[in-house]
Amino acid sequence: MALYSDKVMDHFQNPRNVGKMDDADGIGEVGNAKCGDIMRMYIKVKDGIITDCKFNTFGCGSAIATSSMATELIKGKPVEEALQLSNQAVVEALDGLPPQKIHCSVLAEEAVQAAVKDYYDKNGIAYDPEKFKVHRCEHCSD
Ligand code: FES
Repeated sequence: MALYSDKVMDHFQNPRNVGKMDDADGIGEVGNAKCGDIMRMYIKVKDGIITDCKFNTFGCGSAIATSSMATELIKGKPVEEALQLSNQAVVEALDGLPPQKIHCSVLAEEAVQAAVKDYYDKNGIAYDPEKFKVHRCEHCSD
């Protein structure tokens, strides 16, 4: 079996929603201390729905593929629902990642959460900090 699924290769080679968003309602930037990769996620929100999102990732192929898939999964969804997005859901949508690359998907989950948090903060929306706990996978030690 190939190390990477067709979907991972597709999202790595043709990432969706790449770029900067000048009028974003929320921006989240996260980094992985171990590998030094950085991911920035932008969301546009209208009436509680994420109408658009974009990302920039300075990182490995799996980080790019997972950010791309994460933007596809949260676009058109209520903000609250985007917050529930787990790295496992992103990995499943990509038909899997090798165990040593699972931590890259955590970056995507964290970037979405950071963008939502920024949106809440900028708009004075109260939230439960507990909701921003990252759902760590069993492969990740950091
Ligand atoms: Fe750093 Fe993939 S190796 S996010």
